[in-house]
Amino acid sequence: MNVLGIDTSCDDTAVAVVADGRHILSSVVMSQLRLHAEHGGVVPEVASRRHLEEIRPAITRALDGAGVGLDGITLVAATVGPGLAGSLMVGYNLGRALALGRGLPFLPVNHLEGHIYSAWLQTPQTPEAPQLPTLVLIVSGGHTELVLMRDHGRYRRLGGTLDDAAGEAFDKVGRLLGLGYPGGPAVQRAAADLPTGTDAVTLPRAWLRGGHDFSFSGLKTAVLHLVEGLGPRPEPERIQAIAAGFQQSVADVLATKTAAAAREFGVRGVVLCGGVAANQAVREALRSALPPTMPLHVPPISLCTDNAAMIAAAGYFRRGEAVSGSASGDIQPGLTLLVED
Ligand code: KG4
Ligand code: ZN
Repeated sequence: MNVLGIDTSCDDTAVAVVADGRHILSSVVMSQLRLHAEHGGVVPEVASRRHLEEIRPAITRALDGAGVGLDGITLVAATVGPGLAGSLMVGYNLGRALALGRGLPFLPVNHLEGHIYSAWLQTPQTPEAPQLPTLVLIVSGGHTELVLMRDHGRYRRLGGTLDDAAGEAFDKVGRLLGLGYPGGPAVQRAAADLPTGTDAVTLPRAWLRGGHDFSFSGLKTAVLHLVEGLGPRPEPERIQAIAAGFQQSVADVLATKTAAAAREFGVRGVVLCGGVAANQAVREALRSALPPTMPLHVPPISLCTDNAAMIAAAGYFRRGEAVSGSASGDIQPGLTLLVED
């Protein structure tokens, strides 16, 4: 069963074809990164205009890449939210119109559920699908959520960030340190450049003991104070030491609290997904915080950041709820993860 997935929730125009929820036949991501980099962040109007230009070529490329025509598609799945309204509208409405025109079933997909299902996509690095129940840590630019997934489509939100999302904290700290946008990869590079033998700066960790929530605003403020004390021409090593200290603090808190929840709920594995799951320090910290026998599922980097293969995978697992293109409702920019448990 081939699902055509579409995601235009933020600044990437993404279209993919996935067979049986796990096998990627094609995955096209037209990145707008360079377009927004000069503004230091995503400009919504610029993003939606570019989606309009890119979406049709992206669909053609995805179908060609998969070696199927629209005749070979069984279901169309598109992101309904959360995301930027003007961006969501482009992919969602085109997906809906395509389904309607071809008489195909249509499935509105929650972008966060999409991130979760990125762990089901089969790749050489991730041959096995997660076993349920599994604990999921979604860490992206807009979200930091710890979710217990007992079954397909059954989620219980255990906790999340009380202020900044992890990716947002990386982006803000990247900006504070003058490392550019997006901050996540830039902070990771700066931290990796810290010469061996030089210590990272020790920064605070918000444990919020007894719960499953996170907070990164205190850490960000601590970085701000350090930056204010730096003077006009700081040594690159000093910047690298702050970047490394920040990254260690985020990785430590995410890993320790996720491992504690995995023990508490007796899950069969842990999924780490979303853009920040691309971070090597976060991956390594979580691996070492978990018992060696506990499976950790982390998609390859290209599937951690926004893509449409994950939307097609989520669509496959929810295929029983597909509707006709005309009965599918409108976009939901403020959507949260459905709590059904
Ligand atoms: O999932 P995603 O592509 O988009 C959202 O749905 O938000 O996540 C983007 C976020 C950005 O904040 C970016 O800085 C962060 O993921 N990110 C990283 C890394 N690569 C991307 N954060 C830390 N380390 C990375 N290597
Ligand atoms: Zn995302």
